Amino acid sequence: MANLRLENVTKRFGPITAVKALNLEIRDGEFFSILGPPGAGKTTTLRLIVGLEKPDEGTVYIDGEPANEIHPGKRDIAMVFQNLALYPDKTVFDNMAYPLRERKLPKDEIERLVQATAKSLYIDHLLKRKPAKLSGGERQRVAIGRAMVRKPKAYLLDEPLANLDALLRLEMRVELKRLQGELGQTLVYVTHDQVEAMSMADRIAVLNKGVLQQCDTPEAVYNFPANRFVATTIGSPPTNFVTADVRPHGDNLLLAHSVFALAVEGGRHPARAALESAAAGQALPEKVLIGFRPEDVRVSTSQANGCNVPAQVSVVEPLGGETVVDLRMGGDLVKAVVPPTQRLEERRHVWLNFDPERVHLFDARTGQRVYTTGQGEPFACLEAVH
Ligand SMILES: Nc1ncnc2c1ncn2[C@@H]1O[C@H](COP(=O)(O)OP(=O)(O)OP(=O)(O)O)[C@@H](O)[C@H]1O
Ligand SMILES: [Mg+2]
Repeated sequence: MANLRLENVTKRFGPITAVKALNLEIRDGEFFSILGPPGAGKTTTLRLIVGLEKPDEGTVYIDGEPANEIHPGKRDIAMVFQNLALYPDKTVFDNMAYPLRERKLPKDEIERLVQATAKSLYIDHLLKRKPAKLSGGERQRVAIGRAMVRKPKAYLLDEPLANLDALLRLEMRVELKRLQGELGQTLVYVTHDQVEAMSMADRIAVLNKGVLQQCDTPEAVYNFPANRFVATTIGSPPTNFVTADVRPHGDNLLLAHSVFALAVEGGRHPARAALESAAAGQALPEKVLIGFRPEDVRVSTSQANGCNVPAQVSVVEPLGGETVVDLRMGGDLVKAVVPPTQRLEERRHVWLNFDPERVHLFDARTGQRVYTTGQGEPFACLEAVH
C-alpha cells in the first residue's frame, strides 16, 4: 500500500519539458488514471515515480518520504511498461518467478507465489508455455502477473491494454478493475483512451504537453471540465464549442451567436461575475465560447420548450445503440447524439434544444471554463431565426 505524491516536479529532456511543475497526489489504495494524448508526459510521470528518471526540479514522495535519492530497486513499486518485454526464451512460470529469484526467495515460496498470482489472473494453465505461444491478452496477463507477484507497494501500468483488440480490452478492463479492488493496492494506470480512464479510475489526471489540466473524479471531469482541452478529451463525441459575442444590453448581457442568443439576466447573475473575474483587468471579454455536449442536446423537427436553436442536418451516422448527427448551426458544425429510432434525413431543417442545466461558458482566449449553468442560474434563451 502506498501514497504517492509529486510536488512541483519538472523533467526536461534537452529543450523538451516532458513534465512541467506537476503536483499530484495518488492516495493509498486508489485506482488512479493518467490520461493524455501522445507526448503528454504520461510515461515520464510513471518513470519519475518508479525512479527511472530523476526530477530536474521538485520532489517525489512515497508514503510521505522524499524519494528522489532512493534507488528504483528500493522503492518497491512495480511498473508494467508500455511495450511489455517478456523474456521470450523463458516459460510463463520463469517470467513470473524472475523478480522473486532476483530477491533470492526460497524455491517453495516462489512456487507458491507464482501459482497463487497465476490463478488470480486465470493463467495458471499456461505456466509451462513460452510467450510466443500466448495470445496478446494472455501475454498482457503474464506481464501484469510478473509485476504483481512480489506484492509491491504500488503498481504503475503504462497503456497495458493498448495492443489488444476491442473485445479483449473490454474483458481485461473489467478484470483489472476487479483485481485492483481485491488487492486494494495503489494502481496508477496510464492511457490515452478516455473511456478506459472514465470506466476504471477513482480519479483521473488529465495531462497535456507536460502540464496537468485537471485532476478529479470521472464525474467531475465530465460534468465540470476545467478547460476546453478537458472538455474535448473527455466524452465522445467531444464537447461542441461555438463562439458568441458578449454584448451588454442594459442590465443584462447577451451572448450572441449568429443564430441564437443567450441572455444573462440582471447585473447580479453569477455568470456575469464569472465573466468579469475571468477578464481580470478588463470590464468584460468581447467573446465567449459556449460549450455543450452532443448528448445534452435534443434534435426535433418542431420547437420544444426551452432554448430552440435552428440547425440543418448535415451527416447522419448510425452507430447501433445511438446515432450521431452532424448539424450546421449558422456557420458552425456541431454534433448531437440521438436515439437510434429517431429518423433524420440529411439537409432537413431542425431545432436543437439545449439542456438548460448543462451549458458551459469558456474564456475564448485561455480556454478556461468560467461558468456552468447547472451550478447556478440558467440563462434565458432568446428566440432565433431560421
Ligand atoms: N529519453 C528521452 N529523451 C528525449 N525526449 C524524451 C525522452 N523521453 C520522453 N521524451 C519526450 O518527452 C515528451 C513526453 O514523453 P512521454 O513518453 O512521457 O509521453 P507519453 O504521454 O507517454 O506519450 P505516448 O502516449 O506517446 O506514450 C515527449 O515530447 C517525448 O518526445
Ligand atoms: Mg508513453
